Amino acid sequence: MEQVLQPIVEAIKSGKKVTFFQGAGISTNAGIPDFRSPKTGLYANLAKLNLPYAEAVFDIDYFRENPKAFYTLASELFPGKFMPTKYHYMLKLFQDKKVLKRVYTQNIDTLERLAGVDDEFIVEAHGSFANCHCIDCHNEMSTEELKRHINDKKDSIPICAKCKGYVKPDIVFFGEALPEKLFEKWDEDEDEIELAIVAGTSLTVHPFAGLPEQLHRKTHRLLINKEPVGSFKHNKSTKDIVLLEDCDKVLLLLCELLGWEKELESLIEK
Ligand code: OAD
Repeated sequence: MEQVLQPIVEAIKSGKKVTFFQGAGISTNAGIPDFRSPKTGLYANLAKLNLPYAEAVFDIDYFRENPKAFYTLASELFPGKFMPTKYHYMLKLFQDKKVLKRVYTQNIDTLERLAGVDDEFIVEAHGSFANCHCIDCHNEMSTEELKRHINDKKDSIPICAKCKGYVKPDIVFFGEALPEKLFEKWDEDEDEIELAIVAGTSLTVHPFAGLPEQLHRKTHRLLINKEPVGSFKHNKSTKDIVLLEDCDKVLLLLCELLGWEKELESLIEK
């Protein structure tokens, strides 16, 4: 594996900045299930919610009729219960070393922020729990209030004080628009990305899944995932590297090869 990572190490040492594209697999080591892993993924374990199909739990039309399914899950996933992993702290270390260009994440767990990555570097492509709004009149409810509601009134749905519509966190559901920030940053970054690390994602949900595919074929791309995905599976460029390994293990090794392991340890201990 050391040998395979050498081109990435050299690219970083020569000053190339890294752009990350990531998904739920980077947070499984924090104890949060991903979505599509066959036995452990969230979608394989939703039988208790009696959904017509697993992804309905994040579908805006389904939520309008049956908000309870999402809120049953939300109480389990709400940020505050989980700590960043080594991978998340590596992102912060890349930022400190000034080799981080951007982190495009599909995750709603906010662990990138908790590890100390600054807002300017993070694009939460599928939103997050950071803000909450009424789905009808868009009136805001503070996340603290929503969290209190979830904890105190287990079986009831948070309701808008103005129009009595259902309130939900600003997680992008299927059928909703993606955040403007995604398009703004992508326009800024697309032609400048020289080095991309894609990790912990099945690359199944578009348009996010298309981003690493749109990079120039001369861009160095590293996939760290438990299974081959997207164009890394059938349409690899000669510059692509695929490591079917645990993402913490690979980033830790990358960190060692860069000679940064002491700094990583002290970040984690803080
Ligand atoms: P998925 O569950 O679809 O994919 C997670 C990927 O991470 C799988 O390919 C796993 O093999 C891999 N994986 C799991 N643990 C890993 C580890 N420790 N190291 C390396 N790889 C690991 O999750 P996403 O691709 O993030 O959308 O799913 C995309 C979107 O689908 C989510 O944002 C969510 C969901 O519906 C919304 O909620 C809108």
